[in-house]
Amino acid sequence: MARKKIALIGAGNIGGTLAHLAAQKELGDVVLFDIVEGVPQGKALDLQQCGPVEGFDAKVTGTNDYKDIAGADVIIVTAGVPRKPGMSRDDLLGINLKVMKAVGEGIKANAPDAFVICITNPLDAMVWALREFSGLPHNKVVGMAGVLDSARFSTFLAEEFGVSVRDVSSFVLGGHGDTMVPVAEYSTIKGIPIPDLIKLGRSTQERIDAIVKRTAVGGGEIVGLLGTSAFYAPAASAIAMAESYLGDQKRILPSAAYVDGKYGLDGLYVGVPVVIGAGGVEEIVEITLDDTAKAGLQVSIDAVKELLVACKGIDPSLA
Ligand code: APR
Repeated sequence: MARKKIALIGAGNIGGTLAHLAAQKELGDVVLFDIVEGVPQGKALDLQQCGPVEGFDAKVTGTNDYKDIAGADVIIVTAGVPRKPGMSRDDLLGINLKVMKAVGEGIKANAPDAFVICITNPLDAMVWALREFSGLPHNKVVGMAGVLDSARFSTFLAEEFGVSVRDVSSFVLGGHGDTMVPVAEYSTIKGIPIPDLIKLGRSTQERIDAIVKRTAVGGGEIVGLLGTSAFYAPAASAIAMAESYLGDQKRILPSAAYVDGKYGLDGLYVGVPVVIGAGGVEEIVEITLDDTAKAGLQVSIDAVKELLVACKGIDPSLA
């Protein structure tokens, strides 16, 4: 069987980390694409030379030519500009929309059968635009946000309860912005829901509320410290999604997926739990939400819709 091919569009902080993880895990041969000449080639060569040390056997190449992504099984898109301190994800809209147009056309022309994972922000708008520009089926284009946001939530919950992160399972819905909805009711410590643990006196509602707030602005916390956006956990999260697709694992992963008919939506990309398998996004899992979570989700949905209106204003071909 031929090796799988993973194409990474954008060879910056996240792109380089993705390439390293994909090669280490031998998901397939890796092609790093970027518009800047020399950067993808240099990073690829550096990463290729990790192989003999780390013992992985995967070819890593760099390119500035979209033709080299031909036949890719998975494409992960990080092309664009990241946040700087003081910027919201939405501030990136105008610049990154143009980038999505170029990337979408490149994918359409060269790798229309790929499973595409978008990471570029503002995520819910960019994954929608990328799907529009690429013309790929909705179930083959998905955004990475919920896995990362849940990982942040889980990290803070593990700290709060003093337990291994392995025993924490958490849930974040909605758009990948400050309006995201971390759902404590569906988050558990080894199967025990957070509200039950509060009743048992293991934490308080106030402390959990603070964790929920910290999760929602978790990306901003890192931008403030680092001067640019996070890259290790975003890359790890997208790799989990790629593995679920390549291995037909059918994992339930919160992702920015196209929802049409569930959650009261008629065709919108927003963060919901989905099943990812060989068919791409195979199912949107609809869960029952209490009134608070429902209201939170609605705020988040409205924020995403506003971004789409702004996108259509910038590029009338999307209207
Ligand atoms: N085509 C391909 N690559 C591009 C294009 C384009 N049209 N425009 C910019 N790039 C490349 C840049 O040259 C750079 O190498 O995208 C890369 C982005 O890398 P970084 O600036 O290091 O950004 P990164 O931290 O990887 O984040 C990328 O993901 O999480 C989001 O908000 C983040 O939107 C940002 C994206």
